[in-house]
Order: sequence, then structure tokens, then C-alpha cells
Amino acid sequence: MALPPELALATKNLGKIQEILAICSEWPVKWLTADGVDWPDIEETGDTYRDNALLKAHGVARVLGVPAVADDSGIEVDALGGGPGVRSARFAGEHATDRENLSLLLARVADVDEGERTARYRCVAACAWPDGRAVVAEAACEGRIILQPRGDGGFGYDPAFVPEGETRTMAQLSEGEKNAISHRGKALRALGELLRKDGD
Ligand code: IMP
Repeated sequence: MALPPELALATKNLGKIQEILAICSEWPVKWLTADGVDWPDIEETGDTYRDNALLKAHGVARVLGVPAVADDSGIEVDALGGGPGVRSARFAGEHATDRENLSLLLARVADVDEGERTARYRCVAACAWPDGRAVVAEAACEGRIILQPRGDGGFGYDPAFVPEGETRTMAQLSEGEKNAISHRGKALRALGELLRKDGD
């Protein structure tokens, strides 16, 4: 399969675009991104991260006629039975903002003891080709939820997520520090290895 010379980035989420381009900055590919251009809208109707990552990657690859990379990700809070999980982007409603989703999450864990507020981010990264082939990689980042959000970096639930082994929240880490330990960083690096290996 090999790393294609041109790859479309199948997301319109600016936070994700920025992170993925930084994580994959060493990949010798030309990226096509949704920055200010007409871009296919793919509905995330799957029940799993894997289904949604493949839906997005296949959808964009088919429409644009070039291989596409997508990620699907979410936060899983143990005290919420693993939720919001695959529904993380729509936790507070179909068009909810990051701030609304974060507020709802904090309200739901407000009465949970600190030691019980364990959580993880999970990410499935997929690369799909217009002819239907695909490669998939998955990773997680363990941590816990704090009730007083801190930091301006990252996006989504980052101000309330403290990764394992850290005292700072994900939103207080530099971009490089986040990408070194994050679910997205690990999943995309694994995807890159699979793509390079397949090309041997
Ligand atoms: P989706 O992958 O487009 O379905 O969106 C995943 C959602 O999970 C995002 O909108 C965020 O709410 C949350 N999420 C995923 N990764 C991160 C992250 O790195 N930081 C904070 N929130 C995240």
C-alpha cells in the first residue's frame, strides 16, 4: 500500500486538523485539508470509533478520488459507564459546542469521588483508498477528570482531563507534549508505521 504521495484529511474540526498535521509533519505527503474549501460532509452514523473512522475516510476518499485519513475519537469516563464515548462530540446535543459538552460532563461527575473519576481518550485512525482498501490503528490515553478546568490549549474536554503521570491538564501541555502522549498521536504514529510497512 505504501504512503500515498497525496492524502486528504477527512475532518472539518480545526483542533483535529492542527493536531494531525503536527503529528504527521514528517510524513512525506502533500495534505489536502478542509481549510476554507468545499469539503464532503460525512455523517457519523456508526456505533463504534472504528466504523465512524472508516465511514469518514472512505467517504472523503470516494468523493475526492484520493486516499484519505480520518480519526474518530472520544472520552470514556468509568463513572459514566464508559460514556460519552463515541457520542463525545454530541454529548450535550447534536450541535453542541465543546464548552457545552464539557459543562455537561462536569455536571455528571460532580458527585463522583476524585479516585473514581478515571477516564481515557480513545482514537481510531484510518486511511482509506478510493478503491475500498483501508488500514486502521487504535490507541488510548489514560487519565482522570478534574472538576475545575484549567488551561487554554487543545480542544474539547482537554481542560478537565489530566493524563496519567501528569499534574497538568491536557490543555496545559504544549502541543508537542500533548501529541507525544495523546490517543491521537499514538494512533496516527501506529497508522504511519502500518502504511510504511505495507509499502515494503
Ligand atoms: P469525533 O471524533 O469527530 O466524533 O469527535 C470526537 C470528540 O471527542 C471531540 O469533539 C471531543 O469532544 C472529544 N475528543 C476527542 N479527542 C479529543 C482530544 O484530544 N481532546 C479533547 N477532546 C477530544
